[in-house]
Amino acid sequence: MIIRQEHPADYDAVYALNAEAFPSPAEAGLVDALRKQANPFISLVAERDSRVVGHILFTPVELIPPAELNIMGLAPMAVLPELQKSGIGSALIRAGLTACRELSAGAIVVLGHADYYPRFGFRPASEFELRCQYEVPDENFMALELSSGYLANVSGEIHYHPAFAAV
Ligand SMILES: CC(C)(COP(=O)(O)OP(=O)(O)OC[C@H]1O[C@@H](n2cnc3c(N)ncnc32)[C@H](O)[C@@H]1OP(=O)(O)O)[C@@H](O)C(=O)NCCC(=O)NCCS
Repeated sequence: MIIRQEHPADYDAVYALNAEAFPSPAEAGLVDALRKQANPFISLVAERDSRVVGHILFTPVELIPPAELNIMGLAPMAVLPELQKSGIGSALIRAGLTACRELSAGAIVVLGHADYYPRFGFRPASEFELRCQYEVPDENFMALELSSGYLANVSGEIHYHPAFAAV
């Protein structure tokens, strides 16, 4: 299995993968919308036997009140249902964190499973005085500093790209 940047030739496979991994095609459509509208973005695929088996996307989020920060949001990510729990998601996240660092992001936020993301260092965003624009349980909105102390002395509400409103 390799993790690599997504290419235009992967778009159909990535759509199909997200449509299969999530209960509705909303996330698949979100990925298509974010590719066109978000700048910058990081889109990585996991490829096995020339087949796209996993995908992860990172797009910039905004802090309100505004601050000169470079924070990326991890969403969505998906692994083919029959290949889940074999480490593909973990490999995508680790490669994604490296790619975010290369883009000079200082932190990453994620809205997701409270049992999954802490293993990569994510902690409840409330520990950094960050809230989510959506009403979600505290434990599901998490943040990770890529540079130590990057989120010290900031507080506010994290807003995702407007395309997320469609999901
Ligand atoms: C979440 C997801 C990307 C993880 O990918 P994966 O390749 O299965 O993950 P890994 O193999 O690296 O890790 C598996 C671990 O994650 C845990 N995990 C997977 N989904 C989970 C969930 N919904 N809640 C809690 N833990 C979960 C597994 O229990 C397993 O734990 P273990 O290592 O202690 O056994 C994958 O399950 C998926 O595509 N789910 C459907 C889409 C989705 O929910 N995406 C995330 C929200 S954006």
